[in-house]
Amino acid sequence: MKVVVVGASGLIGSRIVRALERTGQEVVEASRETGVNSFTGEGLGHALEGADVLIDVTNSGPFGEGDALDFFKQSGKNLLIAARSLKVKHYMALSVLGVDRLVENDYFRAKMVQENLILSSGLPYTIVRSAQLFDFFNSVVNAYAVDGIIRLPSLILQPLAVDDAADWMAKIAVGSAHNSTIELAGPEESQLIDLARELLTASADPRPVEIDPFATYFGVELAPNGLIPNRKILSGQLTFHDWLAGTAYA
Ligand SMILES: NC(=O)c1ccc[n+]([C@@H]2O[C@H](COP(=O)([O-])OP(=O)(O)OC[C@H]3O[C@@H](n4cnc5c(N)ncnc54)[C@H](OP(=O)(O)O)[C@@H]3O)[C@@H](O)[C@H]2O)c1
Repeated sequence: MKVVVVGASGLIGSRIVRALERTGQEVVEASRETGVNSFTGEGLGHALEGADVLIDVTNSGPFGEGDALDFFKQSGKNLLIAARSLKVKHYMALSVLGVDRLVENDYFRAKMVQENLILSSGLPYTIVRSAQLFDFFNSVVNAYAVDGIIRLPSLILQPLAVDDAADWMAKIAVGSAHNSTIELAGPEESQLIDLARELLTASADPRPVEIDPFATYFGVELAPNGLIPNRKILSGQLTFHDWLAGTAYA
C-alpha cells in the first residue's frame, strides 16, 4: 500500500512515517522540504501518483502564528482536488479533539474549516481528532506565564504521546476509510494544572502555578470538563508521568 504523508517532517508526521515503515508500507514523505507545497499545489500531482492513502498532517506554522484560516482552506482544497483527480482511496487528516467547541479561536476555527472541506469532498475519509500531544505543554505553560507566574484555566485534559497518536494514525491508514470522525486521547484524565506542575518540577523550573478563574483556553470559555472526549475513543498507552521520565526534562 502506498501512503503519502503530507507534513512528513513535522512532529507527528515524522512519527507516522516511522510507524508506517515499521508495518512495511510504501511511504512518500511530502513537505516543502521534499518539493511538495500543499498551499501552492506544487509537487502534489507527482507525490500522489499511485497513492492509496493521503494523510494530511500539515500545519500553518507555530500554534497561534500565521494565517491559519488561509492556510488550512487553501492547502485543504489543493490536497482534496489532487486526491480526487488521482483517485486516492482514503483521505485522512489529523484534527483537534473538541475542535467544534473551540471555534472562538482562529486556529481551531481554521481546523474546523479543514474538516468541513473533507466532509463535503465526497472522498472516502477518516478524520482523527486528537487530544493534545504531551510535547505541546511546554508552550502551554509559557503561553500562560504572567509576571513569572503560570496562571491556568481549570481544565481536565486527556493528552497522549506523539508515538501513540502516530501508531493509531498508521493503523487507521492501512484499514478502510471510516467515513466518520474518530477521537483519540491519552490513557488518563488530568487537571491541566497538575500536568503543568509536573512538567515544571521535571525541568527544575521554579515558577509557581495557580488556577486563574478568569483564564480562557486560548481565548475560548470552557467548562472544566469541556475538552473531555465525548465519543468512544481510541486510547494511547503511555502516561504523562512515564513520558516525562523518558524525556530530556527528567
Ligand atoms: N501537536 C499537537 O498537539 C496536535 C494535536 C492534535 C492535532 N494536531 C494537528 O496535527 C497537524 C500537525 O501538527 P504538528 O504539531 O506535527 O505540526 P508541525 O510539527 O508544525 O509540522 C507541520 C508539517 O507541515 C509541513 N508543512 C507546512 N507548510 C506546508 C506546505 N505549504 N506544504 C507542505 N507541507 C507543509 C511542515 O514541513 P515543511 O516546513 O518542510 O513544509 C511539517 O512537516 C496539525 O494540523 C495540527 O493541528 C496537532
